[in-house]
Amino acid sequence: MTTTDPHHAERLWRVHQGDLATLDARGRRRALTPRAGRDFASNDYLALSGSPRLRDAIAAAITRGVPAGSGGSRLLRGNDPEHEALEAEAAAWAGCESALFLGSGYAANVALLSTLPQSGDLIIHDELIHASMHEGLRLSRATAVAVPHNDADAFADTARSWHARGECGRIWLAFESLYSMDGDRAPLADLVAIAERHDAVMVIDEAHATGVFGRDGRGLVADLPIPLDGRPDTIVLRTCGKALGAEGALICAPAVVRDFLINRGRPFIFSTAPSPLMAAAVREAIRICVDEPERRARLAALSAQAARVLGPLGATVTGTQILPLILGEDARAMRVAAALQAAGFDVRGIRPPTVAPGTARLRVSLTLNCQAADVDALGLALEAAL
Ligand SMILES: Cc1ncc(COP(=O)(O)O)c(C=O)c1O
Repeated sequence: MTTTDPHHAERLWRVHQGDLATLDARGRRRALTPRAGRDFASNDYLALSGSPRLRDAIAAAITRGVPAGSGGSRLLRGNDPEHEALEAEAAAWAGCESALFLGSGYAANVALLSTLPQSGDLIIHDELIHASMHEGLRLSRATAVAVPHNDADAFADTARSWHARGECGRIWLAFESLYSMDGDRAPLADLVAIAERHDAVMVIDEAHATGVFGRDGRGLVADLPIPLDGRPDTIVLRTCGKALGAEGALICAPAVVRDFLINRGRPFIFSTAPSPLMAAAVREAIRICVDEPERRARLAALSAQAARVLGPLGATVTGTQILPLILGEDARAMRVAAALQAAGFDVRGIRPPTVAPGTARLRVSLTLNCQAADVDALGLALEAAL
């Protein structure tokens, strides 16, 4: 339908334009920009997104007739042998009973938390869990309680008082193993002990640890004296768009969880299955994690160097590949980020609502797309920009 009313569009979109204007006035309006500068911003930790092995795997899959699109939901005609081959390989790699491949970590977290906990259950979650977990909580019928960041005692106290009140629903513990904006790790061993004490199920988001930590790049859950995969009380989310250089996510869990999500998980059921070519790429990425441990070693060395160079300038030394430099005011973080970008470094300013008010920061992310000399150069540029 066309209209001759010159104010038609303005009327339709007044609320949205108003909201954008408010963001503008607060300096919070965002826009897409082309990639530029040395990569201190991506999650391509192992530099696999452009790796010849991944490209060749996709080319080989095309040559053997793997289709670009799946053509439908997995439950209809979208189930491709590539999906199933990936899931079998991923389960063997992780050491869990089964794996389920979804199109994104976002969808996977929504599926997990909206589908598995039941009415009458309690989900205790870290206050800093990712937005996608929050989205799942919003759709869940269970009660959700946030606890202070990385405070294992708060998890334990909340679980204890739930039982003391006579509640008999299942307890779920939801947390990340490595936090994306803070770069710090969860107190995994303590949380496992709490789960055991309260017969709880853990939903562990390994988005930023997959590929980077643990034997064969299986993540921090594989770094414990007894790896967590394979336990009946453990669900691990491994995303494929970060260190694995591809796209999608693998839910690594007991077989009953996979079956339940296939039958009840709306983000899985009512969505076109991921590209089978992407499944082929993720399989290759997993093989690289196993074959090329030197990538993890190089990233660890780069992260340690960044800690030495950026720590004295105020960056939090986390012992991981993510180093936040908390600057407080939004404007300050954005000004320093802009200065670094102008000097050729892709460092992003992160501000509320992604992080808490008053904690705007630079998020320095180390990847193998950079060399030691780039880290030194970033240090000099940062010193000048602060
Ligand atoms: C901790 C965490 N979980 C889940 C996701 C979502 O994963 P995906 O990007 O595959 O949708 C992200 C993405 O940034 C993340 O940081």
